[in-house]
Amino acid sequence: MKVIRTLNGNSGCNILLCKNDHSYFVRKLCMDSTYESRFFKQIHKLINFSDFLKKENHKSRICVPEILDVGRDIEGYIYYDMQYVNGLLFNKYINRMPVGDVVATFSIILDFVSLEMKNEIMFDIIDLDKIVKNKLSQLNQNIDINTEHCTDVLLTKTISHGDLTFENILIENETNKIFLIDPMDCYLDNALDDVSKLCTEIFAFWSNRNSGTKINPGIYLALRNAMMNNSEFQKYNNLLKCLVLIDLLRTVPYLHKKGSIELANTIHKIVEMDNLWLN
Ligand SMILES: Nc1ncnc2c1ncn2[C@@H]1O[C@H](COP(=O)(O)OP(=O)(O)OP(=O)(O)O)[C@@H](O)[C@H]1O
Ligand SMILES: [Mg+2]
Repeated sequence: MKVIRTLNGNSGCNILLCKNDHSYFVRKLCMDSTYESRFFKQIHKLINFSDFLKKENHKSRICVPEILDVGRDIEGYIYYDMQYVNGLLFNKYINRMPVGDVVATFSIILDFVSLEMKNEIMFDIIDLDKIVKNKLSQLNQNIDINTEHCTDVLLTKTISHGDLTFENILIENETNKIFLIDPMDCYLDNALDDVSKLCTEIFAFWSNRNSGTKINPGIYLALRNAMMNNSEFQKYNNLLKCLVLIDLLRTVPYLHKKGSIELANTIHKIVEMDNLWLN
């Protein structure tokens, strides 16, 4: 095996583009032993997703990279090898491709999330009130978030990606397939978490935060309209607003000063919104 180069990675993992006799593959190495259990959950999620896509006989462009091997290297680090996807991350894709293509691709991602939502694991009821209040109290920001109507819904567990940001969606150049990478276990075992991550992108330009690339508001408006057209998401307006705020508050400590001001403004704007979709 030959290491060609290091790919980006910021979660305590090393991500290497490698080559063996026949082909390229990606090795993801867990360099932080405290992260190992989450790393194993990631591997399970990738396998579960792959089974889910097969079971649904999914004809759309959505895929996950195939896992090729799991093991421990000579230095003792756990790794998994996966299919290499030669493509563009969605946060770059939206700036380089025509709006029509971007919206069409995004609509396929939304259809997939809707499919996840329908796949309820019955009788596994989520105690939303407890989870949301717990999460907000841990974040302990001095912002008054009204949770009054956000937990009025009954949710059961569903399959979910757990970190569906634009940086974890990779569009393969040659095939245009949409690969979902880097899934995570997350506090809410429900696909609404994936919806909320997409909302965080659309309302707070999350994956653009460090890129320095100028945002094209037209694209974001088009993506927001695509989300608005989904009546299923609108039903959860209050809850989604809370989940988006949790996402944003969670990330405040990692932002440098300049970004923090913009983020604070976005947070206040969202707090003020009666309806995520109509403002
Ligand atoms: N299968 C793959 N094929 C091609 N590139 C990949 C693949 N998996 C990961 N990458 C590249 O490596 C980058 C980082 O991978 P990944 O998102 O899995 O880890 P991470 O960013 O360290 O985790 P986190 O996003 O939680 O911090 C991706 O943004 C992508 O550019
Ligand atoms: Mg990632």
